[in-house]
Amino acid sequence: MKERIKELLEEIKGLQALNKDDLESLRIKYLSKKGEISSLFNDFRNVSNEQKKEVGQLLNDLKNTAQDKINEIKASLEKKVEETNKLDLTRTPDPIELGTRHPLSIVKTEIADIFGRLGFVIAEGPEVEDDWHVFSALNFPPEHPARDMQDTFFITRDPDVLLRTHTSSVQTRVMTSQEPPIRVLCPGRVYRNEAISYRAHCFFHQVEGLYIDKNVTFADLKQALLYFAKEMFGEGTKIRLRPSYFPFTEPSAEMDISCNLCGGTGCAFCKGTGWVEILGCGMVDPNVLDSCGIDSKVYTGYAFGMGIERITNLKYQVKDLRMFSENDVRFLNQFKSAY
Ligand code: PHE
Repeated sequence: MKERIKELLEEIKGLQALNKDDLESLRIKYLSKKGEISSLFNDFRNVSNEQKKEVGQLLNDLKNTAQDKINEIKASLEKKVEETNKLDLTRTPDPIELGTRHPLSIVKTEIADIFGRLGFVIAEGPEVEDDWHVFSALNFPPEHPARDMQDTFFITRDPDVLLRTHTSSVQTRVMTSQEPPIRVLCPGRVYRNEAISYRAHCFFHQVEGLYIDKNVTFADLKQALLYFAKEMFGEGTKIRLRPSYFPFTEPSAEMDISCNLCGGTGCAFCKGTGWVEILGCGMVDPNVLDSCGIDSKVYTGYAFGMGIERITNLKYQVKDLRMFSENDVRFLNQFKSAY
């Protein structure tokens, strides 16, 4: 009997209850008429006379301890409820810290805004493409090196399914599905099989533009690009066009802007030349128009394409391309923007 009392005493000292129901079942278990302690009181009859005093004392202590414990738990549960009721649910929450846009998004939006003012609308297309939309329709001869595994990530060969290497593929899609006049801007991610370093990555972002209508000339192209350069890099910015080659444009050119770091006097960034290259452009090759079902005898067009990373570097002097995809908030937090 003494053993059992000791056991119960230990048990009771450790009791816990999460809510009123738990507490009630504890009360029933120990203190009700059929509870553990009452049954010990019943057994008390059998205790020998010499032990009655001692065991009686122990039993009374046990009962008091149980009663105290139950009262204590009850008080603490009530206190908890009271505290919850004290919560001020009308209090305004802590202000949510605003994030910043990714620098590439900021610059992409700015480019889109500038060309938007010239009437260009956004067109988008898939990143996983077929050979025809990326290369063949754009007048790439079958043996052109850009089709090589060196440059292009192929998903399957024959039929060739690949990750687009430029967003010109979206222009193909627009030309084959819309009638001129066409004036689209194609932003998006592109992929090339390059070793990753501070100046090259296996994916980057482009914005390409396409304008097709009757009587579109190289002068229109030059005017649009000059407007863009001044809007993007400041009123004093100069441009120059150098002859170049792209399979899908003829004639083709690369455009430089006066170095926006030194203002054209020559610095380390522009390698002392005063000029930095920012985009490729040209008049859409008649072969491209014809293969996309647009009559090249009636329509002409211009196209241009630029890397968003390059423009962002020029605006913000980001030294390492890899920063754009590392998601380091210390880097990203620096780009607070209206865009
Ligand atoms: N598609 C070319 C590239 O990815 C850029 C370009 C677009 C050049 C349109 C001329 C005209 O490099």
